[in-house]
Amino acid sequence: MSDSTRFRPVAPPEVIEGAFSEDQHRRMLDVVRRKGPWQLILAQHFQSPEEVVATTSGMIPEGFEPTWDMFMTPVFRGYFAQGSTVLHPEIEDCFFNRKFLDLVRAYWKADYARPESMLFNIQGPCPGSDAPHVDATRFRGITDRTTPVWLMNMMVKSGLFERWRAKKAQVIAWYYRGRVGGGFNYWPDGPQATPRQIKAPMWGRAVVVENEMMFHTAEACGPAHLRRPAGLRIDSLMSADPDSADGWQITTDGEVIQKVPAEEFRFLVHWGGEVYSDYEDLKRTLDHTDDIDNDRVFETMIDDLRRRGLEFEVPSDPMTDQRFISLLTQTYDPGKPASYPPEPEELAA
Ligand SMILES: [Fe+2]
Repeated sequence: MSDSTRFRPVAPPEVIEGAFSEDQHRRMLDVVRRKGPWQLILAQHFQSPEEVVATTSGMIPEGFEPTWDMFMTPVFRGYFAQGSTVLHPEIEDCFFNRKFLDLVRAYWKADYARPESMLFNIQGPCPGSDAPHVDATRFRGITDRTTPVWLMNMMVKSGLFERWRAKKAQVIAWYYRGRVGGGFNYWPDGPQATPRQIKAPMWGRAVVVENEMMFHTAEACGPAHLRRPAGLRIDSLMSADPDSADGWQITTDGEVIQKVPAEEFRFLVHWGGEVYSDYEDLKRTLDHTDDIDNDRVFETMIDDLRRRGLEFEVPSDPMTDQRFISLLTQTYDPGKPASYPPEPEELAA
């Protein structure tokens, strides 16, 4: 097993209040209400249930047929900004956010930062996940255009490529007035250490964090009997409820399968920035003077496996060799969390 204490963010997560002004929050929510409907997170990132398994463990056990139902939770996603570009001009100030840039520069003790992306998650009642994750990242020379996600994840887990890893930070803000769960569970000292929890209800509470290096997951949310709406499918959608000024609805094939009142609605805004320690760091990135490529990644991993005294055949195509991929998965597995925060308590009827 690899050293799991490496999974620590660059600095302890910092909790702040009033991340956005009331006016900014109102305008962001207005975009979400007017421009829906929105797809499930799962539908946007994966083509098949097999891909979900491959991303989490790097391989699919033989004879195992995963289904969407195994992973499906009613959390929907949309984008406010992609590739440092705001998709909705009415919230430009929320993205090119001076306050957030100051926060992430201070968090990294870095000279420079730039807004990169901004997305939102919306949901009603929802089960928690027992599989916390770290967010995908990239490296100088290695991005999702050159390299599959599983290999980039393996690069992080191995700890061998820190020199090239992008420095990132997020400001993640929540708006949730419900009274059951809905917080944020995180493992700031590595997955084997004690987890921490940011508790709901919260309105504009946010965390400044490096989620590429910290295991985290959403806490279960809302009344338990409403967390798995009947009729939820991979193509279900969430949008503003046309019969209500502030309510929401989930539909499948145009049919409403669940109404979500405002008091059960959880809205998460995820702002991500890229950080550069100093001018040299910025130039190195812009000028590509110290990039890495897939061949060098595999050479480095193969050297490391040999140094660990492992016996294996050097694969002719390491990108697709299942046995080699399994060996990497076992060697660099950071392990499952040793403990979880307690489940949220149901309200007495
Ligand atoms: Fe995440």
